[in-house]
Formats: sequence, C-alpha cells, structure tokens
Amino acid sequence: MSDSFDLIIIGAGPGGYVCAIRAAQLGLKVACVEKRATLGGTCLNVGCIPSKALLQSSEQFSHATHALKDHGVLVEGVKLDLARMQARKGEVVTANVKGVEFLFRKNKVTWLKGAGRIVAPGKVEVAGTEYDTKSIVIATGSDSAPLRGVDVDEKRIVTSTGALEVDKVPGHLVVIGAGVIGLELGSVWRRLGAEVTVVEFLDRIAPGMDTEVATAFQRILTKQGLKFRLGAKVTGASQGKDGVTLSLEPVKGGAAETLKADIVLLAIGRRPFTEGLGLAEAGVALDDRGRVIVDPHYATNVPGIYAIGDVIAGPMLAHKAEDEGVAIAEILAGQAGHVNYGVIPSVVYTSPEVAWVGQTEEELKAAGIAYAVGKFPFTANGRARAMGETDGFVKILADKTTDRLLGAHILGPDAGTLIAELATAMEFGASSEDVGRICHAHPTLEEAVKEAALATAGHALHI
Ligand code: FAD
Ligand code: NAI
Repeated sequence: MSDSFDLIIIGAGPGGYVCAIRAAQLGLKVACVEKRATLGGTCLNVGCIPSKALLQSSEQFSHATHALKDHGVLVEGVKLDLARMQARKGEVVTANVKGVEFLFRKNKVTWLKGAGRIVAPGKVEVAGTEYDTKSIVIATGSDSAPLRGVDVDEKRIVTSTGALEVDKVPGHLVVIGAGVIGLELGSVWRRLGAEVTVVEFLDRIAPGMDTEVATAFQRILTKQGLKFRLGAKVTGASQGKDGVTLSLEPVKGGAAETLKADIVLLAIGRRPFTEGLGLAEAGVALDDRGRVIVDPHYATNVPGIYAIGDVIAGPMLAHKAEDEGVAIAEILAGQAGHVNYGVIPSVVYTSPEVAWVGQTEEELKAAGIAYAVGKFPFTANGRARAMGETDGFVKILADKTTDRLLGAHILGPDAGTLIAELATAMEFGASSEDVGRICHAHPTLEEAVKEAALATAGHALHI
C-alpha cells in the first residue's frame, strides 16, 4: 500500500489535468494518472495543438505563395521545408506539455506514471501499486473510430495522429469524413500542394454546423481546391505498391467506384476510450455508444466514481472537457460547479475560420421557436477589405418575441476570436439589441458582429 489521496484522476488531457489543478487549488490532495510519456492528453500531444501549429504554418506558406502578391509583396522562390515545419510543430507541443508538468509541480499534483485501473471504488492501481483515494475521476478521453475494411497502419492509411506526422506532401490525399478533422487536416495538406478529395457519407459537409454556413463554407473550400465526394460510403481499402485503392458506393444506390490515394486519412469521428480501466469489474455503467453514464454532477452509478470530458456524452471539445474538470473539482470541494451546455463555442480552424455558439436555424425550426435572423457579410466590413479577407458573414439568431440571442454563426476571418463576444453576451442573457448598441472599435472585424446584431431588427447601417 502506498500514498492515499483525496482525489485520483485517470487521464491527463484537458479534462483531467485542469481538474487536477483546480482541485489542488481548492486544497485537495490530488494525483493524476497518465500512461502517455507526456501530459496534456490528445489535445496537446496529437490533437488541438499540433494541428493548429500545422494550420498556422501551412497558412503562412499559402500566403507566401498566393496572397501576398495582392498586397504588392513579391516573394520569389518560395520553398517548403516540411522537415522544419514538422520540427516547429514538435517544439510547440513540447512547450505545451512541459507547461502542464510545471503546473503540476506548482500546484503539488502528483503525476502517477502508467496506466490506471480502478480496482474498486476508492482504489486505483498504477504500475503494480495500489493507491487509496476518496474520489476517482475518469478522464480517459477518446480515440479515432475505426471503419470496417479500412485498416489503419498510420503510414498510408492514417488517423489524425498519422496525418500530423506525414514527412512528404502526398500527391493525392483522400480524407474519409468531412467533419472537423477532415476539413482542418485536409486544408493543411491542400495548402502544401496535395490534391485532396474528401469523401463524406452525408449529402453535406460538417454535420452540426448551421446548414447555410456549411454550404457557403463548402463553396469556399472548393475554391481553395478541395474536392468533395458527398453521399458516398467507403466500403474497403486495399494497399498496393503505388498507394491505396478505396472502394466507394453511393449511399443512395448506383454503381460502385474506386479512388486511388497516396495517403488515406480516416476521420469519421472519435469514440470514448475506456480500455483496461476495469469499469465492468467496478460496475460502472456505459451507454450504447460506450460512454460513461453520469448524472448532472458527473457522478457515475458507482458512489465515489465520476467522469468528465470526451469519455462522457456531449461535444468532444477540449474547452468542454476543461470546464467539466473545473466543475467536478469544485463539486468535490463542496462548491457549486456547473457547465452551461447551451453556450459552448465550436470553432473550425480553417481559412476562413468557422465558429458558432448556441442553436442553428435547423435546431430552432425543429424546436418550433420563432426567431429573427440578422446577417452581415465581411465584404461590407472595412477592416476585412483592408485585410483582403472578405469571404463569409456573421449570422445572428434572436428570439422573435424577446430578442434574446439564441445562436450565432460566423464564417470569416478570425471567427474563432469573434465568437467570444457572442458567447459572453449569451451567458449574460443579452438581446441582439444589447450587442448592436455596444460601441465597437473601428475599423475592426467585430463591427460585422454589431452589424449582424442590428440586422436582426432590420437596421444594419453599412448594407
Ligand atoms: P484526452 O485529451 O483524450 O486525454 C485522455 C488522456 O487519458 C490521454 O492522455 C490518455 O493517454 C490517458 N489515458 C487513457 N486511459 C488511461 C489509463 N487507463 N491510465 C492512464 N491514462 C489514461 N478540441 C478543441 O476544442 N479544439 C481543437 O482545436 C481540437 N482539435 C483537435 C484536433 C485533433 C486532430 C483531434 C484528434 C482532436 C481535437 N480536439 C479539439 C478534441 C480534443 O482533443 C478533445 O476533445 C480533448 O482532448 C478531450 O479531452 P479529455 O481530457 O477528455 O481526453
Ligand atoms: P466528426 O464527427 O466531426 O466528423 C466525422 C464525419 O465523418 C461526419 O461528417 C460523418 O458524417 C462522416 N462519416 C462517418 N462515417 C463515415 C463513412 N463511413 N464514410 C464517410 N464519411 C463518414 O469527426 P472527426 O472529424 O473525426 O472529429 C472527431 C472529434 O474531434 C469531433 O467531435 C470534434 O469535436 C473534435 N475535433 C475538434 C476540432 C476543433 O474543435 N477545431 C478539430 C478536430 C477535432
């Protein structure tokens, strides 16, 4: 028998490590178990951070090769140093994961290295040692969903993890799944010169995104050279000397076809990861999709065992996992932790970015809620014109009767930053008139947000 703790968290992703820090701040004696060699989970090691590093670098390359000449900046002989780009990505990841290690030391969180297994409520085993704890939080995250007939080798048939490590720009990259991973990583390799085809089961891209926005987004991505094969399902993949051959079938019937690829990226969603945790033995209930079932206070059906992040229901987003980590830490410390699931922003970090918060038009229609729409295009925004980034628009949905903000959707430059104003407004229960009457600095992209808010009442000023 070794040390005992108030709280042992299994998994040091954004859910687990943030939970550990907050619980330690609140005076609990905390350990966090992580089997990976570095802290930070999927997000810092093979997810959010490395993908954003490559998105940033590939965008710089694309500016140098395409956009700069419009600004009168002539750059000749631009070349890609992919090895350097990948090395830089590695440096960014290292700085972030080391940062979490520092935060653990600073907050006196013990990192238990190895795979954690729940032996019983209040007992966790790590690398042959059993630890006692008052509470256990499962924060083991997710991994890529497999597809029958498409065997991942992380070289030619890759998940997002392999797609972040490619050391030569592929001639033809075929992405299976037009979701967030497919569109972000497809954009990276397209910008660096690959031909990219995205095969999607549905007849639209980016399910979950407001349909009007998704349609405009697809048009922009198509202009950037991404090809879409919608309404098609991949039924198999075979590897040969000259690459991979994918078999495709139209969802609505029709002749099967094949598609040749140098690299195939399988990105059809992620599934909760609970392997080897001992959940069945501990009696922890899972739903039909393998997610740990929790009540509104993150408690599982077994007293003393809680779960947060990708391993439970809800959007698989780092900031959702982080906020749940804070909430459960506060609940365990006797406070009133809470997450408002109605106001969790989503961002797709392509160029332009897409960001949204609250409900889509389709959701409001389905719920029978009467709403007003206000839209404002970036073509009418002075700053966007100056930047040369006028693709897209801001769309605000407000309650027809009360004018309360119900949803906001932005396709355009820096949408991921712009959405924060609307998330804040929604958290404070603001109306679109409230946003429209706030003094916004000129010339800024934020003025497009103000104008869209004014447009819900039909009086935008600059259109
Ligand atoms: P994870 O980050 O998956 O962490 C779980 C950790 O638990 C892992 O480190 C794992 O090794 C560890 N673990 C599992 N089992 C055990 C065990 N038995 N013992 C010990 N340790 C264990 N989200 C965003 O919000 N923004 C983005 O831009 C974004 N980009 C992404 C890009 C990619 C390519 C991918 C794949 C995901 C991206 N995500 C993004 C999603 C985000 O990474 C996840 O939502 C987030 O990491 C979930 O956090 P988590 O703490 O629940 O789990
Ligand atoms: P996703 O759920 O976003 O998209 C998967 C896509 O694959 C869907 O469009 C789906 O219809 C399609 N699909 C499913 N089965 C298919 C099949 N057999 N053939 C063809 N298409 C098929 O999942 P994705 O992109 O893998 O991302 C996983 C998670 O990671 C997401 O939930 C997302 O929240 C998170 N993530 C978030 C990012 C961000 O916030 N910027 C970036 C990357 C990932």
